[in-house]
Amino acid sequence: MKTLISPDYPQLCQAVAQNVIHCVNAKPDALICIAGGDTPLGVFAALVDAQNQGQVDFSRTQFLGLDEWLGLGQSDKGSCREMVWHHFFDKLTLREEQICFFDGLTANPQAECQRVDGYIEQHGPIDCIVLGIGMNGHIGFNEPGASLDNTCHVIDLDEVTQAVSVKYFDTPREVKQGISLGLKTILAAKNIVLMASGEKKAAIVAQTVNHPASRDIPSTLVKTVPQASLYVDNAAARAL
Ligand code: F6R
Repeated sequence: MKTLISPDYPQLCQAVAQNVIHCVNAKPDALICIAGGDTPLGVFAALVDAQNQGQVDFSRTQFLGLDEWLGLGQSDKGSCREMVWHHFFDKLTLREEQICFFDGLTANPQAECQRVDGYIEQHGPIDCIVLGIGMNGHIGFNEPGASLDNTCHVIDLDEVTQAVSVKYFDTPREVKQGISLGLKTILAAKNIVLMASGEKKAAIVAQTVNHPASRDIPSTLVKTVPQASLYVDNAAARAL
């Protein structure tokens, strides 16, 4: 796996944004999947700037949400949907049919998984996916021990993920399950960007690089595919 180290978070986000822009400029109707969470927020801003400056045209691009907390929707501050919409989709003025995102409020999660799997079958494989790394090495909501055979599925969230989740919400939320693309779909993407920033990610980044690929640390599985790159800033690279 190629590793790219940027001096700081803004430059890391620029580097990841350039990767996405390159993908869309090569294939304007590309299918792009980007995680929610804190890590990609600067990438969203860089991509919005790039569009406003005419460096990229997202008018034919398809966007896919990576995951969602089950039980939360767009009006819940800190849901994946709310974060991605607020920081990215709303600023690009996309058409509704350009976006596929899990509905965390669905009454039928299995049907929701089938709907998103169907969308990926129609528009996929994913041309470019930008992943964050959980403190426990999860990618999407594929927690330690996740199956390599999974497509979209419902997950019982790891205790670490539940504990970390409080940082997203302004009021306490009980998030015990998530809905996510599975490892099978993620690892089939044509271009995989694994991204991490800050000193708090240094230990899991070092494990991702140095630990043999294992389902116990899902981020290590990204190393098993040739089309993957790790993008980190100096702080996240500190233990490498
Ligand atoms: C969120 C997601 C998660 C996060 C990961 C890192 O949509 O897929 O895997 O990418 O938990 O979260 P942050 O970026 O908040 O550190």
